[in-house]
Amino acid sequence: MWLPEDPAIAAELARLHEASAASDAARAARGGFKADENTDDIVRLGSEYLAVSPAEGEFLYMLARGMQARVVVEFGASFGLSTLYLAAALRATGGHLSTTEIHPDKCAALRASLDRAGVTDCVTLLEGDARDTLQTVEGSVDMVLLDGWKSMYLPVLDLLKPKLRPGAMVAADNISLASTRPYMDHVSDPASGFLTREVNDLGLSVKL
Ligand SMILES: C[S@@+](CC[C@H](N)C(=O)[O-])C[C@H]1O[C@@H](n2cnc3c(N)ncnc32)[C@H](O)[C@@H]1O
Repeated sequence: MWLPEDPAIAAELARLHEASAASDAARAARGGFKADENTDDIVRLGSEYLAVSPAEGEFLYMLARGMQARVVVEFGASFGLSTLYLAAALRATGGHLSTTEIHPDKCAALRASLDRAGVTDCVTLLEGDARDTLQTVEGSVDMVLLDGWKSMYLPVLDLLKPKLRPGAMVAADNISLASTRPYMDHVSDPASGFLTREVNDLGLSVKL
């Protein structure tokens, strides 16, 4: 497993990946998600990590680092796996991440993680519903990660779209889930102003 160079970030990521794997295993032991289950259920899934894999985290790091991103926005931090990969890239580019999380217990755990990883200076946690908290984000945004509840991808994109600079990249996770379809249909339509391709379970869009 690749981890960012910074020892404090790497140690925190290793700890979180272990906890995330245990959370996934516990869910699998309970029978996993059922086909008709509503995964957009904030209360019931409060303790679930639902995190990016190490490979996805590395990819997000590469994307942010490669495009020298300075202003990055994340919808859905959970316990902070993706947050820390992005923070590691922004530590190198001198950029800043505004991330969002609605669950108060996760926010408390995330603040402690960001502190242990030493990235509190390059990450702002906006606690509450991202559809409200992201109103305060100022452009020009270089990169967005959409990984909150899937039915909200499109409203969150609509909110951020005027703040995206030309060439901004939007990565949307879990696009194999049917609830991301309205979002993927939108960004796949050339009239939307995005060019979109699917890379494994990520929808990658560039703002034209
Ligand atoms: C799939 S998890 C995020 C995983 C995280 N990106 C990672 O890699 O560890 C989705 C998270 O989005 C949060 N969320 C869902 N709807 C939200 C909203 N409207 N505003 C802010 N956070 C939200 C949930 O509480 C949950 O923790």
